[in-house]
Amino acid sequence: MVCPEEKHPAPRRGFLINGIKVIAGFFGLGLGIPLAGFFLSPVLKKSRPDWIEIADVGQLRQGEPSKITYRYARKDGWRMSEARRMAFVVRQDDGKLVALTNKCTHLGCGVDWNAATQRFTCPCHGGAFDAQGRVLEGPPPEPLAQLEVKVEADKIFIRDA
Ligand code: FES
Repeated sequence: MVCPEEKHPAPRRGFLINGIKVIAGFFGLGLGIPLAGFFLSPVLKKSRPDWIEIADVGQLRQGEPSKITYRYARKDGWRMSEARRMAFVVRQDDGKLVALTNKCTHLGCGVDWNAATQRFTCPCHGGAFDAQGRVLEGPPPEPLAQLEVKVEADKIFIRDA
């Protein structure tokens, strides 16, 4: 006489092996996901940039935007590099400062201030912005982006995105 378990041993053994694999998979994911997050977090983390000193208040031109080029250390994942950027700082009628990027909002070309026409002009497709960064004409869909700006002890700081 043949025992029923000996007749069909494979289905029960296969079920147990598959159950162990599923449980091991859960444990593996439980350990693997936090470990992967730990090692990748410097790359994925978007930290808020620090304030960058860019100029003295006395360097600003009266009545029109001042072009300021600045450098700062940028962290890209684990790699440090030096970034060079340009911004325009405008003193408004109420005395407040506004910092604008020089990137056109159409396709990202660098705009420049034209003192003769009193507007920012984009060399790529003819976009134009007023001194506050508002679109005057051309294809740009939005005003020039503003950067956070503050003044401390007559020094101008911006926060670069
Ligand atoms: S990139 Fe400035 S108008 Fe097109």
